[in-house]
Amino acid sequence: SETDKGTYPFYMLKEIDEQPNVMRRLAQIYLSETGEPVISDKLLNSMKQADRIYIVGAGTSYHAGLVGKRLFENLTQTPTEVHISSEFAYEQPILSKKPFFIFLSQSGETADSREVLVNVNAGGYESLTITNVQNSTLSREATYTLLLHAGPEIAVASTKAYTAQIAIEAILAKALGEADNQIVAQRFDVRHQLGLVATGMQALVDEKSKIEKLAKASFLKTPNAFYIGRGIDWSVSLEAALKLKEISYVQAEGFASGELKHGTIALIEKGTPVIGIITQEKTAGLTRSNLQETMARGAQILTIVSESLAKPGDTLILPDVDPLMSPLLSVVPTQLIAYYTSLNKGLDVDKPRNLAKSVTVE
Ligand code: AGP
Repeated sequence: SETDKGTYPFYMLKEIDEQPNVMRRLAQIYLSETGEPVISDKLLNSMKQADRIYIVGAGTSYHAGLVGKRLFENLTQTPTEVHISSEFAYEQPILSKKPFFIFLSQSGETADSREVLVNVNAGGYESLTITNVQNSTLSREATYTLLLHAGPEIAVASTKAYTAQIAIEAILAKALGEADNQIVAQRFDVRHQLGLVATGMQALVDEKSKIEKLAKASFLKTPNAFYIGRGIDWSVSLEAALKLKEISYVQAEGFASGELKHGTIALIEKGTPVIGIITQEKTAGLTRSNLQETMARGAQILTIVSESLAKPGDTLILPDVDPLMSPLLSVVPTQLIAYYTSLNKGLDVDKPRNLAKSVTVE
């Protein structure tokens, strides 16, 4: 059954492995035979009227929102803000004239996010919840719902919900951009991309033994580690660091590569792992120089790089996809690094200390 671990030692590994299928399932559910998004006209019309999108979420869902911002701004030209729900709830930003709210929540039960939704409803605004759980609180209370269809996510560390959230954001951004006659959206072949992503993810999860070796060599003994990147790669680096923190207890930071030298580089010591995520042509060279700067201070540098930007000596190569879809691939090795570090430390991968799967207190 869906909630059976089968031969897997932990749910997390099963859920990582399920991601290629989730991508295929989402393409089937949310795209027509010709590859056009199947999104209700009502939802699209509400979104079309908006002058600004506000994405709200916590933890991994917030991180999926950061990627969503790039998708919406590139494909729809609609300014998009992303907010941590616990911050938004008590320090609401000044809203635009016609805001539209998107709530990202795997469980649909996160109290911090719900608090924002209560205020949004009180203000008479329309909203969409993107969630894995039908009839969850956030789904019932929002105007619209899109389901993640990722199957139950049981491990505390979220994996397939993150990639499903991004895939749905891509489909929605394509739909909205097309509804607004945006040429970039018309040209963005989301079905083809999701196919490439599914195949690419499969290739990455098939590299398990390589990633386990890497995790053992570089992460087992280190007290701290850095993931760095620019733009969308920075967004993924935040998620990569969260995974490592929550299940392997390595103090990890996701950092904007260019910002390191403004202070944080002081933390680099001999052997500190610094992992560069490199999927964007315009910033690839810059992140590479930032990695060199840390290497000069003793860091042990690793790279996760899109094939077309790869150079000899890179650590892990990602199959090429549209640069906007790259998080769907770049995150996978970081999930596996966190998994194998936790596993080889003998920790309870699925139930890390101090954490609950859904956080129902503010
Ligand atoms: C993810 O690995 C975390 N366990 C956590 O950050 C989680 O994403 C967050 O609590 C939000 O949960 P939700 O998506 O169910 O709202």
